[in-house]
Amino acid sequence: MTTKKILCIGAGYVGGPTMAVIADRCPQYQITVVDLNEKRIAAWNSDELPIYEPGLEEVVARCRNRNLFYSTDIPKGIREADIIFVSVNTPTKTFGCGAGRAADLQYLEKTARAIVEYADEGKIVVEKSTLPVRTAQAMSRILHSNPKGLKFQIISNPEFLAEGTAINDLENPDRVLIGGMETPEGQRAIEEVVAIYANWVPRERIITTNLWSSELTKLVSNALLAQRVSSVNSISALCEKTEANINEVTAAAGRDSRIGAKFLKASIGFGGSCFKKDILNLVYLCGYYGLPEVAEYWEQVVRMNDYQARRFVGNMLAAMFNTVADKKIAILGFAFKANTGDTRESPAIAVCCQLLEEHARLRIHDPKALGNARLDLEDAEGDISYCEDPYDAVKGAHAIALLTEWDSFRKLDFRRIYDLMEKPAFLFDGRNLLDHRKLYEIGFNVYPIGQKA
Ligand code: NAD
Ligand code: UGA
Repeated sequence: MTTKKILCIGAGYVGGPTMAVIADRCPQYQITVVDLNEKRIAAWNSDELPIYEPGLEEVVARCRNRNLFYSTDIPKGIREADIIFVSVNTPTKTFGCGAGRAADLQYLEKTARAIVEYADEGKIVVEKSTLPVRTAQAMSRILHSNPKGLKFQIISNPEFLAEGTAINDLENPDRVLIGGMETPEGQRAIEEVVAIYANWVPRERIITTNLWSSELTKLVSNALLAQRVSSVNSISALCEKTEANINEVTAAAGRDSRIGAKFLKASIGFGGSCFKKDILNLVYLCGYYGLPEVAEYWEQVVRMNDYQARRFVGNMLAAMFNTVADKKIAILGFAFKANTGDTRESPAIAVCCQLLEEHARLRIHDPKALGNARLDLEDAEGDISYCEDPYDAVKGAHAIALLTEWDSFRKLDFRRIYDLMEKPAFLFDGRNLLDHRKLYEIGFNVYPIGQKA
């Protein structure tokens, strides 16, 4: 049997970990990951991987140069591959028609055109990126515009991994979704992709659907998850007015098996590269298909998220005598969630920018995201320093704003921190991470989300 060759175009947060796990679980496939970004590929080939993800290094170390290769030679990769996964970025469009909502599909289209240019035979092309429903139709038209008369099969196989738990999510997925055309060739292509995942995922967890259901399911899954966070955060505001406690409310509500306990944590808001972009994309699509009421319904999820970050800063101001001008504020955590260095759409960006507008002086600490934080705040005006050591960040600070739920923050010596700070010492726990009673006993003025200290 000849070895099947898989190519993945796009060596980012999805392409990198996904292909590493496929290579690990399927030694019979040869996998190449390509990218236009030479630095990124060089990093994948080095000891310093371009993204931080628990467990990733070990998986890459097992497979790299065995059946997993990273390269910038896109034409060669395309020519040799039997199956091509496309996991390029699909950000929100920032210009022209649909700006601020629609997905920018230029990178996807460029990969499709590269496939047309370099392929010598028909192939299965798998949409791994998150895409507007019916993108496969456009992909198919571009791919079939090839003058050689080659036939391609397009499969939708959206990715559901979450950052920080990507390796576990890939190794033990709740489900794998594979959509294809309802033709005999389409069904055969579905089975080829099923055969990859069936090497480690139980067959009953591999769901097959038509193309459009698969494309749309990805947007809907993210929208439903983000909606839960916005729903809880909206109620956290009501809790603060009524002395109900958001942790007690969600714990009790979540015990109903129809509601479920997961994804009900109040916070300063959701971040990450996808929730906002995918909901806005859904909003755009609903508008495009003449469904303004549906568009408005989902848009509210994003509005509520922006409100939550503004509300957090508003609470800080109100507690600190309506001014933070010239006050030092220690920012603990900048990543959009724990266990990642990723800061894309992190609510910390909005909180920090609003505090800078109020002329606060920021001392930012994050265990993994300081490099990205620097880039995010490159153009922000004001007094900002970045601290490798959390105790440096809190020295002389009037307040702490805890913005990411890093476990290491729980283990800090808060007695020492209190002694290092100006008094009264304020602590705003934007993740409800810490032991508030203990902090109160030390002397902090504690402000959690959706509950009294
Ligand atoms: P990313 O920006 O980290 O990686 C995308 C990579 O594609 C970049 O390295 C870029 O250089 C490369 N690229 C762009 N155009 C190219 C081209 N023409 N040829 C070769 N390489 C090209 O993005 P990501 O976070 O990996 O997301 C990729 C897709 O997966 C998006 O559609 C996203 O919505 C979706 N997704 C992301 C996550 C996540 O956790 N980040 C989870 C599920 C789905
Ligand atoms: C999310 C989805 O969980 C993945 O299934 C999906 O594949 C991915 O988006 C994507 O398409 O990119 P991710 O953004 O990596 O994954 O992380 P999540 O764990 O979903 O957290 C998103 C944001 O919501 C974080 O800022 C997190 O702190 C926040 N959140 C999450 C809350 O505020 N409360 C919660 O209860 C859960």
